[in-house]
Amino acid sequence: MGKDVIIALDFDSKDKTLAFLDRFTEEKPFVKIGMELFYAEGPAVVREIRARGHRIFLDLKLHDIPNTVKKAMAALSALDVDMINLHAAGTKAMMTAALEGLTRPDGTRPLLIAVTQLTSTDQSRMEKELLIREPLDQVVLHYAANAAEAGLDGVVCSPLEADIVHHRCGAGFLTVTPGVRFAGGETGDQKRVTTPAQARALGSDYIVVGRPITQAEDPVAAYRRCMAEFVKS
Ligand code: C5P
Repeated sequence: MGKDVIIALDFDSKDKTLAFLDRFTEEKPFVKIGMELFYAEGPAVVREIRARGHRIFLDLKLHDIPNTVKKAMAALSALDVDMINLHAAGTKAMMTAALEGLTRPDGTRPLLIAVTQLTSTDQSRMEKELLIREPLDQVVLHYAANAAEAGLDGVVCSPLEADIVHHRCGAGFLTVTPGVRFAGGETGDQKRVTTPAQARALGSDYIVVGRPITQAEDPVAAYRRCMAEFVKS
């Protein structure tokens, strides 16, 4: 698996999503389908985008008892997606059950990626509401190590954490990194951002890019710029 750019399809309907994808006549970008689109349109939208030839990261962040996650993953795996995720907070037992559920009868399975602590959780909330008193960066690394021990393929993290995650969990453990912005672009609600070129230099394996491509005047040109900076530079 080489480096790639994953476009976050953060749209609220199938029509808007397909109209956006119709702009790409020469390439088939790797795309991310999240809760908003999946809950609005159901598995049919995944099948339709897959039938158009896109690779898909299904970003549904599962977190439940191991048996339920195993069965849910088996259902999602049948959609023939390439990457899927869950919350490492569900424990190693949940993560290994997820891997079992994901594995298809022919032995293949989508890549399984863990969310560690959401970027919306800060040190103070983690301590006061979750009663986790370790430093946030240590918690993130510990959850990443749990995911690696459970046999998962990688984690979602900031490009700024890609190096320490690789150091702790191995160079082949994937870092899937949002929070990417072009130099001089709008940061929006993202706090710690890097450019695609910086993400590459920091060792990210995949960058997840939403608004810098979806809201661009020319999304195809923005995607190509991302690919040029992250993959081909
Ligand atoms: O528009 P933008 O480039 O900020 O989109 C980033 C995408 O990555 C969104 O779909 C967002 O939900 C997702 N994401 C994130 N930060 C995380 C995990 C996921 O921005 N820690």
